[in-house]
Amino acid sequence: MKEKDLRESLVARCRDLEKFGLNQGTAGNLSIRLDDTMLITPSAVPYDQLVPEMIASMPLNGEYGAWTGPLPPSSEWRIHLDILKVRSDVGALIHTHSLYATTLSMLRKPILAVHYMIAAFGGPTIRCTDYAPFGTKELSDLALAGLEDRMGVLLGSHGMIVLGTTLDEAMWRAVELETLAKMFYLASSIGTPAILDDEEIARIVERFKTYGYKPPKERAGRKPPKEKSALRVKTKARAG
Ligand code: 13P
Repeated sequence: MKEKDLRESLVARCRDLEKFGLNQGTAGNLSIRLDDTMLITPSAVPYDQLVPEMIASMPLNGEYGAWTGPLPPSSEWRIHLDILKVRSDVGALIHTHSLYATTLSMLRKPILAVHYMIAAFGGPTIRCTDYAPFGTKELSDLALAGLEDRMGVLLGSHGMIVLGTTLDEAMWRAVELETLAKMFYLASSIGTPAILDDEEIARIVERFKTYGYKPPKERAGRKPPKEKSALRVKTKARAG
């Protein structure tokens, strides 16, 4: 994608976050990799006032913290930059203060394997970090550690971060993480939810390599899972 398209997609996803109830006011921030730079939302701009020209640009390998743009980058630029620098599997990040994820983070409760969709985050838990003040290197270090082998993390008394190879994939995870947090909260409020064991989650993580959100181009070339094609053969045989 060209820089212009990436800037437009950042603005569009910011608006989506608000529309889906995952962010409010000026909370949260988004970034996307563009070659050896990072495009990131500016600090403290309400999403309904954001335009593509306001997106800041930061070098991934140049002077730490250098930026260009009409407005300063998000106060959380360290988190975004530090993750993009070391995680070559990541092309985009979303940080939100969504309600249920943040509520669990206030209790320092990691999300457990109460639903198989946790596999979309790479393992049997979505960790919760300790608290560190917003915009600090300390918070960035906690986030990076919490994201080891994972595509999402809760930040203590703050919110959540999700990763994606693309911004659309990160957006998919933002919705899924908040949904998991809500389901975990609801189930825990009326009983003790069953926890799927680590082996089962490891199996589902494997299946997620060919399942789950994929960009339209990859979706077109994807082969149907084995079980489904077997079903189709049977149905055909019966119909004939
Ligand atoms: P920015 O407006 O600086 O991106 O900060 C919002 C936020 O969520 C801080 O954690």
